[in-house]
Amino acid sequence: MKAAIFYFTMSGNTELAAKEVAEATGAPLVRLHAEPPYTVDDIDWIHPDARCTREHKDHSLLPRVKPFGVDISSLDTVFIGFPIWWHEEPAIIRSFLTTYHDQLKGKTLYPFCSSYSSPVSEADASLTKEFPDLNWKVGLRLPGSQAEIRKWIEQ
Ligand SMILES: Cc1cc2nc3c(=O)[nH]c(=O)nc-3n(C[C@H](O)[C@H](O)[C@H](O)COP(=O)(O)O)c2cc1C
Repeated sequence: MKAAIFYFTMSGNTELAAKEVAEATGAPLVRLHAEPPYTVDDIDWIHPDARCTREHKDHSLLPRVKPFGVDISSLDTVFIGFPIWWHEEPAIIRSFLTTYHDQLKGKTLYPFCSSYSSPVSEADASLTKEFPDLNWKVGLRLPGSQAEIRKWIEQ
């Protein structure tokens, strides 16, 4: 498997999840950043005009993905990790999938998430609806055991 683990995190939970996937796979970690980066105010979901809320309501709002210097076309498997925001993936993940769509096509994509309580199936549903021509595996919500992660990869 020629894989890499792309992930977005604000408060570190998804980074811990990404490290669990790295432990199970040996794949390198690639952190995704938005340009401009999200601030604390940007993710204050209580406010209807906060950046995260506007991007959730209007999926045409796509933040720029900071270049990360990995050649996706050399991979066959791509892990994509993120926190659940508003019962779906954050807009930066949609940006990543849109910006690198041509390179991602034909690769095997494994979504994983962290969340307070929302299941990853919410993101599975939105990702497969929005990017139906990409090759999605069923997602996994972490933290989890190494055995659970290995079973997920073998699906
Ligand atoms: C804007 C925003 C929206 C969120 N929406 C949800 C949600 O719909 N369901 C849920 O279970 N958790 C939700 N959360 C909680 C995060 O998914 C959770 O804290 C996650 O582990 C944070 O990951 P991070 O530390 O990698 O940033 C939300 C958090 C933020 C900031």
